[in-house]
Amino acid sequence: TGAVAYDPGFMNTAATTSAITYIDGDAGILRYRGYPIEQLAQHSSFLEVSYLLIYGNLPTPTELDAFDQRIRHHTLLHEELKGFFGGFPRDAHPMPVLSSAVSALSTFYQDSLDPFNPEHVEVSTIRLMAKLPVIAAYAHKKSIGQPMLYPDNSMNLVENFLRLSFGLPAEQYELDPVVVKALDLLLILHADHEQNCSTSTVRLVGSSNANLFASVSAGINALFGPAHGGANEAVLKMLRQIQADGIKPEEYMEKVKNKEDGVRLMGFGHRVYKNYDPRAKIIKATAHEILGKLGGNDELLDIAMRLEEKALADDYFIQRKLYPNVDFYTGLIYKAMGFPEKMFTVLFAIGRLPGWIAQWREMINDPQTKIGRPRQLYTGEPERDYPAI
Ligand code: CMC
Repeated sequence: TGAVAYDPGFMNTAATTSAITYIDGDAGILRYRGYPIEQLAQHSSFLEVSYLLIYGNLPTPTELDAFDQRIRHHTLLHEELKGFFGGFPRDAHPMPVLSSAVSALSTFYQDSLDPFNPEHVEVSTIRLMAKLPVIAAYAHKKSIGQPMLYPDNSMNLVENFLRLSFGLPAEQYELDPVVVKALDLLLILHADHEQNCSTSTVRLVGSSNANLFASVSAGINALFGPAHGGANEAVLKMLRQIQADGIKPEEYMEKVKNKEDGVRLMGFGHRVYKNYDPRAKIIKATAHEILGKLGGNDELLDIAMRLEEKALADDYFIQRKLYPNVDFYTGLIYKAMGFPEKMFTVLFAIGRLPGWIAQWREMINDPQTKIGRPRQLYTGEPERDYPAI
């Protein structure tokens, strides 16, 4: 079968061509469909960016409105799917609840799952965009023992998600424009990141012609890990631990550098960005403003800033080209919005959804697509005869 290249972690292997997201890791550049992330973050909205990623171009106002309306039309979850939430333990982490419920969507829409039928793909796209935030909010409500509200379709995706997460049946939920804007920004920054672990998972699962829900469910599970999307939760845990132990950031840094118990500075380092993560730059610039308005935990922010300052001046981090990544500051903002730590990676998943969908659709339409099937270098026993025992 010829020579096989050995590339653990796919450090040097391009598994696909893609026209969606461009990253230059050395220069700290990130663009969606050619548009710099800085411009999208400043001027665009999450819905608009979702449209851009999925359909390839920015929408006209009419197209954006139609996209928004179609999503609003599909927010309701089947009542039987709602029943799922009762089956999980009360302290269930919302990420596996999310992936399970997304996987279950393919049992509710069995007549529209054909990856090669454009109408099926389109309705699945809209269903997923509409329902994933609702599922996410219900996973949160489940974990705090509160009733699940029905979506209010006078609101857009981001507003509806906030109301479903924090609203109560007996009260009028007042949207806070600062929170809406901050969440919208964070979702834009997470919307795609080319062939990262979860996106590659979505593509690999989809390459077997598995349906969109099954593929995205797998992506959610990949995102759950602390080396990937789970890092935002891990950062906050780390900051609280430093606070609780009363240790100085410098002491924690020593532990990291000595690789004590495999401790890492969570929210630092990236496979591709070796200069800085442009998303972290945008978040850092707004974190102070947002936290100022929302009344965030200043002590944790101070610890984060001191860790960052020390790390950026430390040879260990300089030599290894480790810089703060997107997850370093997001947790502090999510916390100030009122989300518990367990929800942080779920918020990442809501943001990454249009990217996963766009990448899956690109793969399905790419004539070069083959089933993903890496090779291996066998290191086990040579042939040996079976002895009767
Ligand atoms: N703290 C301390 N040392 C680190 C860190 C860190 N956060 N990240 C990497 N290193 C060291 C690592 O120990 C290794 O050192 P040495 O050469 O002495 O063995 C060197 O830097 C290279 O690390 P690597 O693990 O080979 O690099 P990678 O490209 O395989 O890993 C990473 C990238 C993001 C998984 C890693 O940097 C990491 O674990 N960071 C912390 C978790 C994190 O913040 N993840 C979020 C990533 S961004 C958003 C996302 O993708 O979800």
